[in-house]
Amino acid sequence: MKNHKIAIIVGSLRKDSYNRKIAQELIRMQPESLEMEIVEIGNLALYNEDLDTANPPAAWQEFRSQLKDANGFLFITPEYNRSISGALKNALDVGSRPYGESVWDTKPAAVISSTPGAMGAFGANHALRQVMVFLNTPMMQQPEAYLGNIMSAFDENGKFVEKTAEFMQNFLTAFAQWVQIHNS
Ligand SMILES: Cc1cc2nc3c(=O)[nH]c(=O)nc-3n(C[C@H](O)[C@H](O)[C@H](O)COP(=O)(O)O)c2cc1C
Repeated sequence: MKNHKIAIIVGSLRKDSYNRKIAQELIRMQPESLEMEIVEIGNLALYNEDLDTANPPAAWQEFRSQLKDANGFLFITPEYNRSISGALKNALDVGSRPYGESVWDTKPAAVISSTPGAMGAFGANHALRQVMVFLNTPMMQQPEAYLGNIMSAFDENGKFVEKTAEFMQNFLTAFAQWVQIHNS
């Protein structure tokens, strides 16, 4: 039975983004208990406190309400200069305000980082964890997911190769349990 809504946040805005492809594959593989969907971040104006009035930008309002509705979050992020992308940091900032109304507060989350490079976007993965600790979001510690050489994770039809599918299935099982624990 689907009982937990998960907002997937993809840290890249690129049309052919590998991180978006990962998200699409995970949605296809989603565990029975999770209803996973991508919440877009590309149309969010840069956070500016002056705009955060009683009538903030419509895209911020919609984003905040979509995340308020979710029981957990899954971040799938590239690494930009050893950190997360500006687009993702902006989304975190937009969701964190107005003060006292953060959408991130106490909801369970996990992160997958990926890169065509060798180091699995470790820097982005941990930069995100640092922000989420402050935002009081319980981040799943294990299993960790650093996907290096990401081109080789997909076959010619865009599906995960067997090794990646197996790894991701374990990750999703652990994530579903993490979400359950933090929603009971
Ligand atoms: C501004 C910028 C900075 C980047 N910095 C890193 C980096 O620090 N580490 C890394 O592994 N890849 C880095 N890359 C390469 C990205 O991993 C690569 O472009 C990747 O495909 C982005 O994810 P996407 O396919 O989901 O768009 C960088 C790319 C850009 C555009």
